Parts: sequence; C-alpha cells; structure tokens
Amino acid sequence: MIKVGLILGIAGACRTDELVNLTVDDIEDVGSSLIVKIPNTKTKIPRIFVVTDVGNMLELFRKYLSLRPPHVKHNRFFLYYKAGKCSSQPVGKNTMGKIPSVVASYLKLPDACYTGGIVDYNRLHT
Ligand SMILES: *[C@@H]1O[C@H](CO)[C@@H](O)[C@H](O)[C@H]1NC(C)=O
Repeated sequence: MIKVGLILGIAGACRTDELVNLTVDDIEDVGSSLIVKIPNTKTKIPRIFVVTDVGNMLELFRKYLSLRPPHVKHNRFFLYYKAGKCSSQPVGKNTMGKIPSVVASYLKLPDACYTGGIVDYNRLHT
C-alpha cells in the first residue's frame, strides 16, 4: 500500500486527501502506462497524469489491485494491506499522511524534507 501510494503520490504530485479519495474508476490501466484522473471538486476539471512503466511500478500497482477482495462495496482505491492481503477497509487520512515519514525513516532521512502531503509543492520549487 505504501509503495503504491508513493508511486501515485509522486507521479501525480498528489495531496494526502487526493490519494485517500482516489477511486478504482479514476485509474485506467492502458497496458504500457496508467492514466490517473484526480477530480477537482471545485472546478470539476480533473487533473490527469500518466504513470509510465519504470522499474516494476506497474507490476506493483497490478499486484496491489489484484489483492482487492471481490466483495468490497465502495470504490475507494486504497485499502489496508497486511500480511499479503488487502482488507475491505479504505485507507484513511491519518495512515495516508504517514507515508512520507514511513518512507523517510526507511531511507533514514531526517524529518525536515516533508510536511503533511506526499509532495510539498513549496519545497519542490525552492
Ligand atoms: C475528499 O472527500 C471528502 C469527503 O467526501 C471531501 O470533503 C474532500 O473535499 C475530498 N478531497 C478532495 C481533494 O477531493
């Protein structure tokens, strides 16, 4: 879950709540890449980005999607993952917001380079 969150979060410069709200219908797998639509609730004009197949990113995405239990009643994309299985419970804001710090501690980075979201737009441009 964290790896797929990181892939989509970085490829699309997504905020935490954009990832939380992402649905399975927002992602189209066209084989060579993924086309992801991030709906904008205010303007109704979605932001679209493409995830190309670098490394094993699409394989990871497909593997994660294939673990989705068939009985899930909602269409939120991110589900909790544990011990090789996904539950039907959608990932909430708090868990999603912790991805940067989980990754930073995995990479042994200091806490200074990120804030609440996957990508901090202001710091990207400084
Ligand atoms: C995510 O969904 C919540 C609940 O429907 C909504 O209040 C919020 O504005 C949405 N955020 C985005 C970025 O779409």
